[in-house]
Amino acid sequence: MRSSDTCQKNQRKTRCLLLTLLAIFLSALQSAGASAETPLGSHQIPALGVAAPANYESVVMPDGKGLPKGSGDVDSGATIYARTCASCHGSKGEKAGVPLVGGRGTLDSKNPIKTVGSYWPFATTLYDYITRAMPYGQEKSLTPNEVYAVTAYVLYLNEIIPENTTLNQENLAAVVMPNRRGFRPAKDFQPFR
Ligand code: HEC
Repeated sequence: MRSSDTCQKNQRKTRCLLLTLLAIFLSALQSAGASAETPLGSHQIPALGVAAPANYESVVMPDGKGLPKGSGDVDSGATIYARTCASCHGSKGEKAGVPLVGGRGTLDSKNPIKTVGSYWPFATTLYDYITRAMPYGQEKSLTPNEVYAVTAYVLYLNEIIPENTTLNQENLAAVVMPNRRGFRPAKDFQPFR
């Protein structure tokens, strides 16, 4: 098998999947305008340890590193969610297709339902995902405060935080997700440096 193949025979599934996702992600970056001519900035893509294109925004790490200053509460998140998310995900995150809520206790069943509440190990990843990828079709249209708020609302819908919670760059990483301990590293996985 050629060494340039993304997935080699002896690689573990997880690593192979990760590499494939990275490859897709990087090619998406490129088609989004980060051509070979784009001068490289000092930004690092932490997972890769390589310089990122100058227009590449920072990535939020599980421990909260990379989170911007800001805050948002469940109540204001509900308003933003109704306006910008509910049409696709349902008013309570329940809509089939890409449900954001439910599925707890189904992961080891025949029909696992993976949602923020049942599957995602880190609340910080939710921030990261929303800020860069949602609302679908209008990505990056939300301010940090709006993202904190809508993150809070999605966590509230999943009964992970109470209704009176305000999230910010200091306390988001401390939110314990239900499936936090459901992942374990692949035996021979070497984190990228
Ligand atoms: C136009 C439809 C649309 C809108 C509006 C939208 N989403 Fe999404 N959302 C999607 C689709 C489609 C996916 C799946 C994307 C994928 O897998 O590549 C998704 C995926 C997600 C996921 C990941 C779910 C998972 O478990 O994989 C989250 C979290 C999410 N959206 C949150 C939001 C939030 C919060 C908003 C509002 C700020 C929002 N979305 C607005 C269509 C939408």
